[in-house]
Formats: sequence, structure tokens, C-alpha cells
Amino acid sequence: MNQGKRRFFSHETLEQNIGWLILATIVVVSIAGLVQIVPLFFQHSTTQPTPGVVPYSPLRLMGRDIYIREGCVGCHSQHVRTLQAETERYGHYSVAGESVFDRPFLWGSKRTGPDLARVGGRYSDDWHRIHLRNPRDVVPESNMPAYPWLEKTPVATHDIEVRMRTLRTLGVPYTDAQIAGAKAELAGKSEEDAMVAYLQGLGTALKPVRLGAQKEQ
Ligand code: HEC
Repeated sequence: MNQGKRRFFSHETLEQNIGWLILATIVVVSIAGLVQIVPLFFQHSTTQPTPGVVPYSPLRLMGRDIYIREGCVGCHSQHVRTLQAETERYGHYSVAGESVFDRPFLWGSKRTGPDLARVGGRYSDDWHRIHLRNPRDVVPESNMPAYPWLEKTPVATHDIEVRMRTLRTLGVPYTDAQIAGAKAELAGKSEEDAMVAYLQGLGTALKPVRLGAQKEQ
């Protein structure tokens, strides 16, 4: 740089003017962000369901809402990362197309307990019921809270049709027949039934080739 005369578009100008530096940083980060994010809105792998992934049945949908209400996401992620340690433990890494019907998504960021993205089919329904009523009965060292009220609480049926219709406006392809039959599917079911149905379907569409390599919790 020749002394005295500083070119405007030089690093020195930027480095010595905090205002310009902030502005330039914002411009660069915004462009980089757009380049990364905008294509995702148009890419099939992020907007179309992975083959085998179907909208939640009414019972599973209620189970999912109970999962949200009870704060399970605070201790459990639902996102298998692309790391060998994770795929050997949980199975195939999660792909975006598995979450297209998740509103909101429940990927989570905290793992006090194991990831649940592929827990479907790993245990029997009875195992889940005992585990939800008192985790210590099946995993003595567990510090997961017990949820004994789920078994005793009938699942709410009054607004299932509204819920499904709302999801339909957001793009979930529920048919009129599915919505009309929703109340009947929930009749006589407990919140525990809904939760078990929800858990047992998690990640089953993309069941890993290496199921045998999985280690329980
Ligand atoms: C305070 C943290 C905490 C909360 C909240 C919590 N869990 Fe857990 N969960 C754990 C821990 C720790 C384990 C591992 C020990 C065990 O199996 O109990 C676990 C294990 C599990 C497992 C077995 C996973 C596997 O692969 O072995 C399931 C299923 C599960 N939790 C479901 C739930 C559901 C559903 C809820 C909400 C109703 C919930 N958890 C809330 C901590 C938590």
C-alpha cells in the first residue's frame, strides 16, 4: 500500500473502520447464507417425503403432541448425525425427507437420553408401556422421569379434525376420509397408546441395513 493514499476498496480501510467492517461482514454473511439456504426450498430431497414416509395417523399425531407437551425433546434428540459412532449405534443417519410432515420438527439439541429418531420397532409395545410408567423397571440406572398419567388419561378427541385440517393447509396430504375417520381411530385410546404408536413409528421408513449392529441405549 503506498503511503498517504489509501484505496477505498482495500483491507486496510475495512480493518480500520469498524462501521465498514460490520457492514461488509453482514453483506458477505447474508450472501453466503442465501446461497446455502435458498436452494433448499427447491430441492426435492428436502421438500418431498422420503419413500415410505407418510403423514402421521391421527393416533400418532396425538402421540407427537403429547411428546411435545411433556417436553421429551428436552432430553431426546431425533436426529442421527452422519458420524460413524452414531450410525453404528442408531442406524441410518437422518435425512431431511423424513421430517417433511413434522411441524414443528423435533430434532432437538440435547441428549440426556438416547436419540429417538430410529427407536421405532427397537422394543416391544409392552416394553414402552412399562418404561413410560416407570423407566427404572426396565433400566434400573435410568434417570428418565416416569409418566404414569399417560396410561390413565384418555386421548383428547375433540379437536383432531381441526388439527388435521390445519396441517392440510400447510401441505400435509390428509384425505377427507382420513379426517372424517380420525375421531373413531382415537376412541377409547389412552395417551399412552398414542405415545407408544408415535414412538413405534419413528424412523421405520428408512430402517437401517445395519440393524444388527445396533446397541440398546
Ligand atoms: C430428564 C430427561 C428425560 C426426559 C424428560 C425423557 N427422557 Fe426418555 N430417556 C432418558 C434417559 C436418560 C434414557 C436412557 C435410560 C432409559 O432407557 O430409561 C431414556 C430412554 C428413553 C427411551 C429408550 C430409548 C432407547 O433407545 O433405549 C425412550 C423410548 C424414551 N426415553 C422416551 C421418552 C419419552 C416419550 C419422553 C417424554 C414423555 C421421555 N423419554 C422423556 C431421559 C429422559
